[in-house]
Amino acid sequence: MEIKQSEFIISAVKPSQYPTDNRVEYAFVGRSNVGKSSLINSLTNRRKLVKVSGTPGKTRLINFFLINDSFYFVDLPGYGYAKVSKSEQSKWGLMMEDYLVRRPQLQKVALLVDCRRKPTEDDVLMYGWIKHFGYEVVIVATKKDKLNRAELVKNNKLIRETLELDAEEEIVNISSLKKTGIVELLTSIFKDSHIDE
Ligand code: GTP
Ligand code: MG
Repeated sequence: MEIKQSEFIISAVKPSQYPTDNRVEYAFVGRSNVGKSSLINSLTNRRKLVKVSGTPGKTRLINFFLINDSFYFVDLPGYGYAKVSKSEQSKWGLMMEDYLVRRPQLQKVALLVDCRRKPTEDDVLMYGWIKHFGYEVVIVATKKDKLNRAELVKNNKLIRETLELDAEEEIVNISSLKKTGIVELLTSIFKDSHIDE
């Protein structure tokens, strides 16, 4: 898959704002600050398509990006950011639920976890949710530039055990900073897809 074109379409708070053209979607979920927005910039080879920040909680809405005039990347707001109020947490939950409960065009969900950390309870819940709703999932371990090879192997094992991944489920290690693992991730996301190259 070669990404030639990417375009921001809409920041949605509610389903009535989602695109209605039925193009397929690939969504990115994970803890706040894990690197979702940076990854979409890396995948699309754009530095500023999506806003990135050192402050967790940058992405608050559901952002749709049209790729190659053919499908969408969907950047979802992160969870687990301690400084978010209860009312904002519940708004987040409702927004995610609205999107995930019934989105037939959603082909695959990329669940991002930090390669340095044991997945949190929220990560485990999110993984369960994705599976429960019947979506395909790809596990992405981010910020691999922060670890050496031996540490990465060790932590991948921890991620695998904590999320209780099946043997055939792979973990794709990426770095948006160094732009490594990006081609592998594209291959993994579009494996078995019917999207034209
Ligand atoms: P929310 O929008 O809050 O949910 O966060 P997010 O998951 O979209 O994270 P974002 O892409 O905004 O990145 C958060 C921070 O991590 C920023 O300071 C990025 O520069 C940094 N970051 C993202 N990817 C990488 C990476 O591959 N390596 C390193 N070292 N830092 C990264
Ligand atoms: Mg973001």
